[in-house]
Amino acid sequence: MRNIVVLPGDGIGPEIVAEASRVLAYLNDRYALELTMAEHAFGGAAWEAQGDPLPASTLAACREADAILLGAVGGPRFDEAPREKRPERGLLRLRAELGLFANLRPALLYPALADASSLKAERVEGLDIMILRELTGGLYFGQPRGIEIRNGERVGFNTMVYSESEIRRVAVRAFEIARQRSSDARAARLCSVDKHNVLEVSELWREVVIEVSRDYPEVELTHMYVDNAAMQLVQTPKQFDVIVTGNIFGDILSDAAAALTGSIGMLPSASLDADGRGMYEPIHGSAPDIAGQGIANPLATILSVAMMLRYTLDEAAAADAIENAVGATLADGVRCRDIGGGVDSVSTRGMGDAVMSSLQRAAR
Ligand code: IPM
Ligand code: MG
Repeated sequence: MRNIVVLPGDGIGPEIVAEASRVLAYLNDRYALELTMAEHAFGGAAWEAQGDPLPASTLAACREADAILLGAVGGPRFDEAPREKRPERGLLRLRAELGLFANLRPALLYPALADASSLKAERVEGLDIMILRELTGGLYFGQPRGIEIRNGERVGFNTMVYSESEIRRVAVRAFEIARQRSSDARAARLCSVDKHNVLEVSELWREVVIEVSRDYPEVELTHMYVDNAAMQLVQTPKQFDVIVTGNIFGDILSDAAAALTGSIGMLPSASLDADGRGMYEPIHGSAPDIAGQGIANPLATILSVAMMLRYTLDEAAAADAIENAVGATLADGVRCRDIGGGVDSVSTRGMGDAVMSSLQRAAR
């Protein structure tokens, strides 16, 4: 038995996770995956009920889990929570406690969505980028941090810090991914994004990435400043294959990449530890503005289940089945509001139904 912890979280989290869980439960049967699934409280909902966004029982369950499926956390309701109890802090603590340093964020354009992209179709057709974001270090976790009074005024500060070992392990993962993605027709390419012209932390980042590159002569390594990378990404995105970058730069660039694929409602992610165990979540947030209306797009979460099957559970056939079913559903013209559904938009549940019937059709 393999044990999956499900954390619906806040906002649209419970709605989208319900659809993804349905898909996983179906595949569990169909492919005899021998998975057990259990839901636990997390995020603002857990803070309200138990006074902690990451209750000890949830953390303990996550430590025992083979994989975690997460919806989203946060929302304006929780702004009154003390800083340490904010839902986002719970998420950051969970990433850190589990050592999930490698965050894979694939930006893949489904052909049927070329018209939903923020760019002209010809600029994004065939787009297939993998952003590898370092997830447990950098500006998000550096000490010292805080807000304090200095010389009679308030000062806020954070620290951007990376040790050589933190850079090396994510760089190694990036080169491995670049190598795996390459084929006879396609050379392996890795672009490391930093701010080497200004930041010491980026100077070290670049040095260590270059050191690691000596073990991967077949991967073509380039470097780009983050401001330029943001521009290139929204101008000529197809030049990229794998991008590796630090925590804050990766947070920003992955949202930009999402817009290229039609909607942030389409992008899944995997956050992996050193042994390949992981947490899987859509990269979008809890979308409090549309929570409870049943209109959120569940595809990013459903595709996160596909990543779970591929990266942690080693069930490539089931992962393929999901990705094919999503492609078929989109090709059939089924759309939620965020991907251009217009007046014919389907609900969250309706999209889940459509993916389930594509899966069942393919299985016959
Ligand atoms: C993401 C989100 C999170 C982050 C927030 C919710 C803390 O934006 O996963 O990209 O900044 O990492
Ligand atoms: Mg983000």
